[in-house]
Amino acid sequence: MKIKKLFLQNFRNYESEKFEFSEGLNVLFGKNGQGKTNCAEAVFYLYTGTSLRIRHDKQLIRMGAESAKIIAEAENRYGNVTIEADIYENKREIRVNGSKISKNADLMGHINSVFFSPGELRLIQDGPDERRRFMNISISQTSPAYYTALLRYNKILDQRNTLLKNRDISMVLDTLPVWDEQLCKYAAVIVKKRAEFVEKLAPCAKEYHAFLTDGGEELVIKPERKYEGTEEEISKNLLRRLENNYEKDLRLGFTTVGPHRDDLDVLIGGADAKSYASQGQMRTAALALKLSEVQIFKTLSGENPILVLDDVMSELDLPRRKKLLKCIADVQTVLTCTHAERVLYGAECNKIRIENGRIKG
Ligand SMILES: Nc1ncnc2c1ncn2[C@@H]1O[C@H](COP(=O)(O)OP(=O)(O)OP(=O)(O)O)[C@@H](O)[C@H]1O
Ligand SMILES: [Mg+2]
Repeated sequence: MKIKKLFLQNFRNYESEKFEFSEGLNVLFGKNGQGKTNCAEAVFYLYTGTSLRIRHDKQLIRMGAESAKIIAEAENRYGNVTIEADIYENKREIRVNGSKISKNADLMGHINSVFFSPGELRLIQDGPDERRRFMNISISQTSPAYYTALLRYNKILDQRNTLLKNRDISMVLDTLPVWDEQLCKYAAVIVKKRAEFVEKLAPCAKEYHAFLTDGGEELVIKPERKYEGTEEEISKNLLRRLENNYEKDLRLGFTTVGPHRDDLDVLIGGADAKSYASQGQMRTAALALKLSEVQIFKTLSGENPILVLDDVMSELDLPRRKKLLKCIADVQTVLTCTHAERVLYGAECNKIRIENGRIKG
């Protein structure tokens, strides 16, 4: 998988600019606030259909303009693919090879990418939401079935939570089993896929972490809750758990069990990372997770995803920077930094200098 060209028009601080990327390392460099992250964000938008930093597409449109446009020419194992996004204040249109797509699920998989920015520390230090988000984005890219199950699960969950707030208890108790059967069907798909993902992720992350830290401390990733058996068995078990929690759910007014509450345990040197790890340790663990994501994509799809590393180097010490460059040697990478020479150590790369939303030759 590689991205060859990226065209931005009225996107963030870009008026009109065309990027040409090479196969290996591409380095976007320049002073603060010039548009490096904005360019990385455009790539993120094209593979997830969502924005990195904000909830409303409106902010992606250059101030004073009416709409923004992103066009990427990429190549995946099936051939060339062009993805175009037209973003308006209240709507957007995305086309893949000229055909309009109606939902994000149809966007997944055309461009696979792994994104890493300093904010990714949240993956380790924040609550379970961030780790579920990581799994959801990552698994969805290689499994449209997962993405669809997730959307349906969330929709039924919303309806179930609304129902739980209803005062007509006998009506609620009559209706719950109907929702729950559906809910458990999709939950089982989610749980199973997550388990498969973590099974691949854990050993890989442990290995990258050992490499980055010279084997200093062991990184252990494991699901907080284990589900045993086939999808059908998982579904049945979950149904039982939901039934056992009717009273509690009714009292609290929301659903207290299910994959929307599950978490991953992250341990560094045997201690819970979010409570005990230093900033540097968290950063390295997050990086190990992201590099593993690259590896998992490669195993599942037979090709490397595009790796976007936003402002990562400044946060790593010298040995780790060098090691990171080694890890990504055969992956097409878009890396942003303020000073190219301070992070590259002579590595061969395509250097692109950004100044005020423009490429400076
Ligand atoms: N919708 C928009 N219209 C115009 N300019 C915008 C818009 N959104 C963001 N910007 C501008 O983009 C710039 C920030 O760009 P970006 O975050 O890419 O910087 P950067 O080069 O990554 O900087 P740093 O090195 O600090 O991370 C800011 O100057 C901001 O005002
Ligand atoms: Mg930036």
